[in-house]
Amino acid sequence: MHNMHIIVATDIAGGIAKDGKIPWYCPADLAHFKRHTQHATLVVGRVTWDTLPASVKARDCIVMSRSPVPSAPRVVSSVDELLDSIGSSLFVYVIGGAQIYEALKPYCSTIIQTVVPSMFGCDKFFTVPPEFALSSTMKLHSPTWSANRVDIFLDDPYVKLYNRA
Ligand SMILES: NC(=O)c1ccc[n+]([C@@H]2O[C@H](COP(=O)([O-])OP(=O)(O)OC[C@H]3O[C@@H](n4cnc5c(N)ncnc54)[C@H](OP(=O)(O)O)[C@@H]3O)[C@@H](O)[C@H]2O)c1
Repeated sequence: MHNMHIIVATDIAGGIAKDGKIPWYCPADLAHFKRHTQHATLVVGRVTWDTLPASVKARDCIVMSRSPVPSAPRVVSSVDELLDSIGSSLFVYVIGGAQIYEALKPYCSTIIQTVVPSMFGCDKFFTVPPEFALSSTMKLHSPTWSANRVDIFLDDPYVKLYNRA
């Protein structure tokens, strides 16, 4: 098994995106994402790559695409090429999107899932495969998080950690 971890944020229906965007704004989750991934190698699909802010693009990213991606420092065109490229590196995080999570689930040892406690009518989803077992759940305290920067929800988001059973 590779030292690869999935990090994902979903709503309570498992939704991860709507109309090509993440339909919530959750500073506590952004801080959580940064804490985990700041010094790691990030594996990202080309569609998500095109949406990333420059601050994340500047990190050590490997972009998955079947075509050249001139804006990306490292591109791999298949799962096999990715696995060769990361070898036994520690701290490799798969950061999405939906196609890349699906392709790499079989090779990941842990899943770190933030659950945003609402529903957003998403059109792309993430599901935890049955071979993963929940090992812990913790609240992400965030008095200021909001959806679309307008609606304030009372519940805190929470993080579920799964390990391959
Ligand atoms: N909520 C979250 O935590 C979260 C996290 C990340 C992203 N997202 C959202 O997810 C959405 C994007 O998801 P998506 O599924 O449309 O796209 P994606 O997974 O980001 O990227 C898909 C692209 O990856 C490449 N690809 C896929 N499988 C491959 C393989 N086996 N080998 C090589 N390349 C491969 C292809 O690129 P080419 O077409 O260039 O060949 C494909 O078009 C965005 O809206 C984003 O905001 C949400």
